[in-house]
Amino acid sequence: MIRAAGVRKSFGEVHALDGVDLDVARGRVLGLLGHNGAGKTTLVNILTTVSRPTAGTVSVAGYDVLSQGAEVRSRIGVTGQYASVDEHLTGFGNLVLIGRLLGAGRHEAAARATALIEQFDLTGAAHQPSRTYSGGMRRRLDLAASLVGRPDVLFLDEPTTGLDPSTRIALWETVEALVSDGTTVLLTTQYLDEADRLADWITVLAKGRVVASGTSERLKADLGHRAVEVVLGQEGDLSTAEASLVTAGFRTHVDAERRTLTARVDTSAAVADVVRALDAVGAEADRLTVKEPSLDDVYLALTQSPAAQRDAA
Ligand SMILES: Nc1ncnc2c1ncn2[C@@H]1O[C@H](COP(=O)(O)OP(=O)(O)O)[C@@H](O)[C@H]1O
Ligand SMILES: [Mg+2]
Repeated sequence: MIRAAGVRKSFGEVHALDGVDLDVARGRVLGLLGHNGAGKTTLVNILTTVSRPTAGTVSVAGYDVLSQGAEVRSRIGVTGQYASVDEHLTGFGNLVLIGRLLGAGRHEAAARATALIEQFDLTGAAHQPSRTYSGGMRRRLDLAASLVGRPDVLFLDEPTTGLDPSTRIALWETVEALVSDGTTVLLTTQYLDEADRLADWITVLAKGRVVASGTSERLKADLGHRAVEVVLGQEGDLSTAEASLVTAGFRTHVDAERRTLTARVDTSAAVADVVRALDAVGAEADRLTVKEPSLDDVYLALTQSPAAQRDAA
């Protein structure tokens, strides 16, 4: 449903995208993960026909974005980081307007608006101006607006940036419901937990380049690592315990405030070695937890890799 090959985009001297390839099958969710300035919005703009690539080929829903832009636009929905609804119209009014703009008759547009208002839990506020909506309601209305035309492919550019935690989770559930209905989604995010939760496939973008691509499980297995986290008892000395772990060959991290030591372990046998090293200096653990690799490790490993450093220079 989304295919991009060798996409470049330059703004004068700035190479916002430097040869990006993507391939997203129908019904899948691609998580495009990257820091601020990585090129996420630039790529979304190209995929949604808002801007033209400097080089490369792109098709969405089987249509070429350059030569068949109108075909592409009629099959996609876009929700940006900044709400695109009209503040002075009611939530209902916004959805009806979009339906009319897309060519629906009055009754059809009203029926679609009513259904979306209900689906996005906006019934109580449907007839209030959208400027009175909370951040979460605005984001839901924005998402509803992008669905008026029943898109095959939905683009969500940082859908939860700036939302509070409970609103984020509610939005995730909404996206999950859409995906279970068969919509193909490309989602950009700076948040690992978001990509981990929603995406089948994650592409990590740094400085306009794809630095890694895979399922979150694959990325974690390849680039993440397991660690043992030890909360030291009141009696134990943190630096003595750490020194013992380092002597035993572990890479460690200390959080003095939480009296916590973290040691990277690559095998389960190494967990016993951690315990032995602590025991050797009489350090008692209040709590000992094995932490599975997280996408945070992956992200750090990638964005601090020599390649990323070189590109940054
Ligand atoms: N219209 C533009 N003119 C000049 N530079 C731009 C323009 N749009 C984006 N850029 C630059 O391209 C890079 C990627 O930006 P963007 O795609 O917005 O990143 P992201 O969405 O991942 O935060 C940044 O260095 C940004 O400053
Ligand atoms: Mg952006």
